[in-house]
Amino acid sequence: MKDKTVLITGGNAGIGFATAESLAAQGAEIIIASRNETKLKEAVAALQNKTGNKKIKYYVADFSSQKSIRSLAEQIKKDYDKIDVLINNAGGVFPDFKLSEDGLEMTIATNHFAYFLLTNLLLELIKKSDYARIVNVASGSHYRGKIDFKSFTKDQGYFILKAYEQSKLANVLFTFALAEKLKGTQVTVNALHPGFVRTDIGNKDTQWYAKMFWTLASRIAAISLEDGAKTSVYLASSKEVKGVTGKYFNKCKEQEPAALAKDKELQKELWNMSALFCPIA
Ligand SMILES: NC(=O)c1ccc[n+]([C@@H]2O[C@H](COP(=O)([O-])OP(=O)(O)OC[C@H]3O[C@@H](n4cnc5c(N)ncnc54)[C@H](OP(=O)(O)O)[C@@H]3O)[C@@H](O)[C@H]2O)c1
Repeated sequence: MKDKTVLITGGNAGIGFATAESLAAQGAEIIIASRNETKLKEAVAALQNKTGNKKIKYYVADFSSQKSIRSLAEQIKKDYDKIDVLINNAGGVFPDFKLSEDGLEMTIATNHFAYFLLTNLLLELIKKSDYARIVNVASGSHYRGKIDFKSFTKDQGYFILKAYEQSKLANVLFTFALAEKLKGTQVTVNALHPGFVRTDIGNKDTQWYAKMFWTLASRIAAISLEDGAKTSVYLASSKEVKGVTGKYFNKCKEQEPAALAKDKELQKELWNMSALFCPIA
């Protein structure tokens, strides 16, 4: 990966950090982007120390804000001639219904609209690479997901897991729709489930009982960050997936996604709705 530039959203912690570490160790130039500058600086220093790779840079961006995502894309376009790999990874869970500054429910705004907007804004830069891979970190929760377009802007009986499952189904639908649009180009796009990984995702922005449940469950059953990053790293760097596109992976193997994720009408509807809420032209 020595001549490759990899952009990882949410690379300061969790699966994103472990992904950055592994790809930095393979010699890639790494860009991480998330919302907290202090954490980003600490992560860059830690990544440089652990891997000896000094080509690690950060950008501050809030992925729940379209303004912030647009500004990130502009800065990256100014600073780079090409992006070889984009890993959409930043995400979260939200206990209550809350609207983002763009009037979108926070889970779908952060977990889906950010992937949709950043990818589309950087597509020209990705197309300049002959390597050109987009990796979308989704989740096995997408199997339980349903899309309720009304819930993108209005409270339809909000429930934390229902909102998360919907956003992760949106990741897979978006991946498949984008792969279709990119047919005939060299750009590939795939989605993945990282496994149940011992990160802080269930410990942030949640109620005490959800925190307690997450901490307990992840201590008992979750895999390490290193293992949780393996499928992202595989899709970003393995020769085995050269040219492979529009697929869903688990444990570095292609896996059948939810039937709903393959629904072409729903893919189209989600794309059109996303472009409406999040103009990309
Ligand atoms: N952990 C699991 O078991 C699991 C299972 C399936 C899928 N996933 C998926 O894996 C991805 C990574 O999750 P994780 O478990 O590694 O969680 P994590 O440890 O909480 O890391 C999430 C990363 O995203 C960043 N982030 C979240 N919201 C953001 C925002 N609005 N703006 C900018 N950055 C933001 C976080 O920054 P801060 O440090 O500032 O919060 C952090 O860097 C997510 O897409 C998640 O849905 C995780």
